[in-house]
Amino acid sequence: MASVTIQGVKKNFGDVPILHGVDIDIQDGSFTVLVGPSGCGKSTLLRMIAGLEQINGGEIRIGERRVNDLPPKERDIAMVFQNYALYPHMTVRDNMAFSLALAKTDKATIDTKVQRAAEILALVPLLDRYPRQLSGGQRQRVAMGRAIVRDPQVFLFDEPLSNLDAKLRVAMRSEIKELHQRLKTTSVYVTHDQIEAMTMGDKIVVMRDGRIEQTGSPLELYDRPANQFVAGFIGSPAMNFLPGTLRHAGGAAEVELRDGTRLPAPVGSGGHDGQSVVYGTRPEHLTLGDTGIPSKVAVLEPTGMDTFVACRHEGTELSAVFRERHDFAPGTLIHLQPDLARAHLFDAGTGQRLVA
Ligand SMILES: Nc1ncnc2c1ncn2[C@@H]1O[C@H](COP(=O)(O)OP(=O)(O)OP(=O)(O)O)[C@@H](O)[C@H]1O
Ligand SMILES: [Mg+2]
Repeated sequence: MASVTIQGVKKNFGDVPILHGVDIDIQDGSFTVLVGPSGCGKSTLLRMIAGLEQINGGEIRIGERRVNDLPPKERDIAMVFQNYALYPHMTVRDNMAFSLALAKTDKATIDTKVQRAAEILALVPLLDRYPRQLSGGQRQRVAMGRAIVRDPQVFLFDEPLSNLDAKLRVAMRSEIKELHQRLKTTSVYVTHDQIEAMTMGDKIVVMRDGRIEQTGSPLELYDRPANQFVAGFIGSPAMNFLPGTLRHAGGAAEVELRDGTRLPAPVGSGGHDGQSVVYGTRPEHLTLGDTGIPSKVAVLEPTGMDTFVACRHEGTELSAVFRERHDFAPGTLIHLQPDLARAHLFDAGTGQRLVA
């Protein structure tokens, strides 16, 4: 195992800058998740750690070793991709043993390592089958097995579950997490999936356009997003945003929405009187009240566990989630009361968080 240190890392493809100087400290034994919109540079960064892309600036270290100019096979890492191609003419056992055989490892060591990985991944009864005789989830486990047998210092995962159906994804998600708790191998995991990011990572790195927007534990990012982009990106359904004006006149600060509705500003909000702001509140932090944000119900979705309500306030879409059951007809006017202690405030221009 080893830490991975990424310092001021830059990447261009031709003249096009893709990564603009990225810094990430990945601790030994940790599980770090990279998220961000399509095209922001997640796979590129992962491939640079693996040695599959050249580094155009900055430095990557694995443990104490600077690896910028080290070929992939000397970096002691294993990568699991979205499109893990198993060799169709080889059994599960041979697929898992392949990289070790290639490295001329002796037969007894290969057998021990394959057996151990197969036990960890519950693949023992499947060792003599061919890939076509396996389910999607089993194939994905073989792909993981190929990485495990190499006993690398670092695992890199690039959306390894995105080809699986919803149910398998959930199952594999816990398996990978359990695997990490067991092996404690430093892992970097790229995903589009909110829930994977929140549940698997010790740390989440949110990227946008080749830059890091925020790094923190899942709950830090959820509770205290540094800017409106992170606030909108982390959490599903996403945070609601209401444009308004900060009012400092008189007693406590308030946010005046476009229709004149006034909401108390979150405690410790900086900013100045008259500043254009965006008030943020998560769907589960809204309750029904006599006062609050007047909203028209558009769609009601009872899931059994809770009730999801999509509504509209002055042209702004809002979503609310209630634990209780409700039965509003579309068009009903309701008032949504945000939980002040969990409200967020951003500058409308820069998107930066205003709450201290
Ligand atoms: N070999 C290449 N040559 C030129 N441009 C490339 C190359 N590989 C990637 N890019 C560009 O670099 C940017 C980052 O791509 P990358 O694959 O890292 O994004 P990503 O964050 O992994 O996206 P996704 O979530 O869609 O997988 C994109 O604009 C992409 O078009
Ligand atoms: Mg990608």
